[in-house]
Amino acid sequence: MSPPAAAHLATAADPDEDLCTGTAEAMESPSEEEAAPPSPAPPPPVSAEERVERAWAHWRRLGSPKMVVAPMVDNSELPFRMLCRRYGATAAYTPMLHSRIFSENEKHRSMEFTTCKEDRPLFVQFCANDPDILLQAAKIVEPYCDYVDINFGCPQRIARRGYYGAFLMDNLPLVKSLVQNLSANLNVPVSCKIRIFPRLEDTLAYAKMLEEAGASLVAVHGRTRDEKDGKKFRADWDAIKAVKDALRIPVLANGNIRHLEDVKDCLEHTGADGRLKDLGGGIPLYRNNNALQTTSNGLAASNA
Ligand SMILES: Cc1cc2nc3c(=O)[nH]c(=O)nc-3n(C[C@H](O)[C@H](O)[C@H](O)COP(=O)(O)O)c2cc1C
Repeated sequence: MSPPAAAHLATAADPDEDLCTGTAEAMESPSEEEAAPPSPAPPPPVSAEERVERAWAHWRRLGSPKMVVAPMVDNSELPFRMLCRRYGATAAYTPMLHSRIFSENEKHRSMEFTTCKEDRPLFVQFCANDPDILLQAAKIVEPYCDYVDINFGCPQRIARRGYYGAFLMDNLPLVKSLVQNLSANLNVPVSCKIRIFPRLEDTLAYAKMLEEAGASLVAVHGRTRDEKDGKKFRADWDAIKAVKDALRIPVLANGNIRHLEDVKDCLEHTGADGRLKDLGGGIPLYRNNNALQTTSNGLAASNA
C-alpha cells in the first residue's frame, strides 16, 4: 500500500511539512480489514423531523463549514485538499471514486484514497448504480469521513457509458434506492451532489425526494446535464435558491464562482448554507485578510 502524497507531506523539509502531522502509516489508504474501529450498528430509523434535526446538528458540529473544496478528479486529492485547508477552506471533497472498483480492488483504494487526521471535515464522493456495492465501498471509508457523497452530477461520456452521475437523473427510483440504502446502513450522513433539470419543478421534486430518502445535505450545481461547458453556460443561482427554499436540510451552492465577490453575491442570491468551488487551473489561492482570494479562475466558497 503506498501513501506517496501523504508520506511526502509528512516528511518534506519545507513549509508545507505540517499540513499533515500523522505518520505515513496513519495516512495510508485503509484496507477493509484495517478500517478500524469497526462501525457500530447503523442507527434505528427515525422520523423525518428527527432526520432534519440530526442533519443540522451534524453540520453545526462540523463548524458549519462554508468554504468547501469541490470534488475534482485529478485535483482534489489529499495534498491539494490540505493546501486549500491551509488557505481557508473549511471542508473538502475527495475526487469521485468508483464504488465498484473501490470496493473490489485494494490497490485501487490505496492509489486513489489517502487521508490524514487533519483532512476533516471530509466528504468522500462515490459514483454508483448498485445500492449494495455503494454501501460496501462506503463502509470502508466511513470511519475516515464526515459525509459519504453520491455523485449525481457527472455529465461526461464516461458517466453515460458507466451509467452513473447525471445519467441516473433518468432513473429516479434507482437514485432513491441508492440514497435510502446508504442512509439506513451508515453511521455517517449521506450527501448528494446534483445538477438541475431544465424545468424547475422537476429539480424541486428531485431534491425533495433526496431529502425524504435520507440525504443529510444536498449540493446543487446550477447547470443541467447538457450544460457541460461551464464557460458557455452560467450556473442558475435562482434554481439553487429555489432548492434551498424547498429543502429543510443544509444546501450548498455550486457554479459560477470566479472571484471573491462572486461568493458573497452567490450566497446572498441563493441563501445557501455554503459554497462548493472547484479550484482548477493550478493553485491560485493566496491569503489576504482571512479571505480566500484568487488570481484568476479559482476560488473556494463561503457563506455569510
Ligand atoms: C477538473 C475537474 C474535475 C471535476 N471532478 C468532479 C468530480 O470528481 N465530482 C463532481 O461531482 N464534480 C466534479 N467536477 C465539477 C466540480 O465539482 C464543480 O461542480 C464545477 O466545476 C462547478 O463549476 P464552476 O466552474 O462554474 O464553479 C470537476 C470539475 C473540474 C474542473
